Amino acid sequence: MKTPNNSKPVIFNNTVLRDGHQSLAATRMTTEQMLPITPDLDALGFGALETWGGATIDSCLRYLGENPFDRLDTLKKLAPKTPHMMLLRGQNIVQYTSFPDDVVEAFIACSAKHGMDIFRIFDALNDTRNLTTAVRAVHKNGKHAQGVICYTTSPVHTLESFVKLGQELQEMGCDSICLKDMAGLISPSMTHDLVRELKSKLSIPLVLHSHNTAGMATASYYAAIEAGIDAVDTSMVPFANGTGQPDTLLMLAMLERSPRKPGYDTSSFKKIRTHLEKVYLELKAFTSPNNEKTDADILEYQVPGGMLSNFRNQLKEQGMSDRLDEVMREIPYVRECLGWIPLVTPTSQIVGTQAMLNVKFGRWKMISQPAMDVVLGKYGRAPGPIDADLLKDVEKRTGQKPIEGRAADLLPPRMEKLKEELRAKNLPDTDENAVLFAMFPTETEKVLKGEKPVVNGAPKAVAEVPQRAPVTRQNGSRYMLNIDGVRHDVLVEEVTR
Ligand code: CO
Repeated sequence: MKTPNNSKPVIFNNTVLRDGHQSLAATRMTTEQMLPITPDLDALGFGALETWGGATIDSCLRYLGENPFDRLDTLKKLAPKTPHMMLLRGQNIVQYTSFPDDVVEAFIACSAKHGMDIFRIFDALNDTRNLTTAVRAVHKNGKHAQGVICYTTSPVHTLESFVKLGQELQEMGCDSICLKDMAGLISPSMTHDLVRELKSKLSIPLVLHSHNTAGMATASYYAAIEAGIDAVDTSMVPFANGTGQPDTLLMLAMLERSPRKPGYDTSSFKKIRTHLEKVYLELKAFTSPNNEKTDADILEYQVPGGMLSNFRNQLKEQGMSDRLDEVMREIPYVRECLGWIPLVTPTSQIVGTQAMLNVKFGRWKMISQPAMDVVLGKYGRAPGPIDADLLKDVEKRTGQKPIEGRAADLLPPRMEKLKEELRAKNLPDTDENAVLFAMFPTETEKVLKGEKPVVNGAPKAVAEVPQRAPVTRQNGSRYMLNIDGVRHDVLVEEVTR
């Protein structure tokens, strides 16, 4: 094995304009709130500014009444020096289901046109077939494609399996790789071994993204830096630490006397912090002490922090507050039956909801439509085998067999049809409008017509109470779940075993 010899200063990417407020303030930071500090962030010399993607596009349309492309234009204008980075859910773009290739391609072309530079692309199942179209489209637009290894713990997720995935991403042509620890589960020693191994096997740069939910991320970042990682993601207090990324100043302090400590002019940090403190207060309806603290409790359940805090609300609404432990203990069982899928949007929602249904109605008595789709391979290939009995059940229930190839191959092109729909509504049929309309039709229409969202500014407690909508199918009921500030409509059906 090659010994890593990386003595260059480590690069910090800044996440405050995306994951920072997504993790700590339900993605509610408005473009206006970002403006005063964007030039300062640009001047500091971060490797990248994460400014878009993840839940921000949904939040802009649904809660803030903003056109997400306008936000990107504005931020790009105010921060022209630093590369802009976005989080993209592969074939799901920034939604929960798969989209046809032509929509994915158009979305990436539009994002590139509006100034996006680095596309961080993940698939919830780590199925690289769901990344190929996006990587190709990013390169076609002359931009940087960063492939993602979603980190999780399970009997089928070994150091070797992650390294193999890293090699696959490099062979696919990814320009760099992000080790994405969405739940803050990675320990310093695992980080050290995995980074050393990946750095010895790969020739492209490696980035670590984690969350300080359990309080391990700063130590794991340090271990990664010792092991030769190229870059880590940091945020800015108060949109840092807790369920967010480690704070930039904190990481600088951690690296005192290290040859890899980057040089930052910290004099402007005070101005940035003062502004962010003010914004944090303005967003107090969406912040919570639960997100601010570090709590190793999460390690027991091995679930993302955002999922845990929102789950408490959902269980309350279902009258199941006293059954949190039971539901949490059901999660590993559901994961195992579903082939040990990682817990990241959208699979975290699917597994969490199914665990709740199993506890409430008995195991697999009610199966949500998305869970059945996972069983049938519609989200991609699961890392481990699907439970045989469950598969038989779902086949019987749906009359369908699992799909063999790539899920998106079954989807016909949609761009022309989307544009027709826009024209029928007297809305401009641009590519930008079409891709947003594909993912969030109602919300996009409202924003394009200049209507203000009714939920904007509603206190978190009200906005996040899950509601039960009317039954829509025989023996079926809809659940409105709200996770990470994003509403999630789940249809569940009674299944007889
Ligand atoms: Co994250």
